[in-house]
Amino acid sequence: MTGALYYRDDLAWVHHTGYTGYVLNAERGIVERLRKHGLEAGQRVLDIGCGSGLLARALLAQGYAVAGVDASPAMIELARAQAPGGDFQAIALPTRRRPGEDGALPAADAIVSTGHVLNYVGSRDDIALAFAELAAALRPGGMLAVDLMTERYAAARDLLHPHANVRDDWTIVTRFSRPAPHRFDREITVFRRVDRHWRRSDEHHANVTFEADAALQILRDHGVDARCEPAFGDETLPEGLVVITGVKRAA
Ligand SMILES: C[S@@+](CC[C@H](N)C(=O)[O-])C[C@H]1O[C@@H](n2cnc3c(N)ncnc32)[C@H](O)[C@@H]1O
Repeated sequence: MTGALYYRDDLAWVHHTGYTGYVLNAERGIVERLRKHGLEAGQRVLDIGCGSGLLARALLAQGYAVAGVDASPAMIELARAQAPGGDFQAIALPTRRRPGEDGALPAADAIVSTGHVLNYVGSRDDIALAFAELAAALRPGGMLAVDLMTERYAAARDLLHPHANVRDDWTIVTRFSRPAPHRFDREITVFRRVDRHWRRSDEHHANVTFEADAALQILRDHGVDARCEPAFGDETLPEGLVVITGVKRAA
């Protein structure tokens, strides 16, 4: 058991074994973008909120030097097992560290992120800070592609009907709420089979919506020419989930 706020051991496992469709759909578009940008094998790609390392694994297969950070030690443990050769660290955004300082994001030629990781950062001010930290970690000429949950995503969700998924060795039930403006929260209960028993764990996920225009402005103010796109590649994202892409201007 770990002390992380989100994705402790059992939910990390449930995500890894049951909710990887999104990242697997996105990875082709991400790899394609990196190639089109001219990123070569050996160059450094940083995966923010890398989860269990599936995107990292695909990037390693392309020959990139992959670093991944995630706030959840359980996810980092899974990522190290799934993507040997990646350089994974338990780091939560915003780091509040300057580039090069201990605990700061490692410098990268490309930064990618799937699963609206930035919306997990506790407040709009901290999301703004996190975007600035991404820009600072990006080398001049480097590219960025991260997804973002906007207000439209939360507004389009059906809050009344819980989500449930039953598997042989786990069950998950998720309830949704909007307890405050710009918030989209999930009450998540997992039962995981452990030997002959079922272990229950609960997590409260507080996501903060963030507008694409605000993200673009922050990135531009920090030297990244950024724009908003409907997806990483040819996949269809849920309404209100967008992809922010950008290229860091030469120093
Ligand atoms: C929805 S999951 C996405 C995981 C993976 N990228 C994927 O697409 O499957 C969100 C991830 O963000 C991580 N996370 C949440 N808050 C974070 C923070 N403040 N800094 C870094 N990672 C965070 C979680 O631990 C989790 O792995």
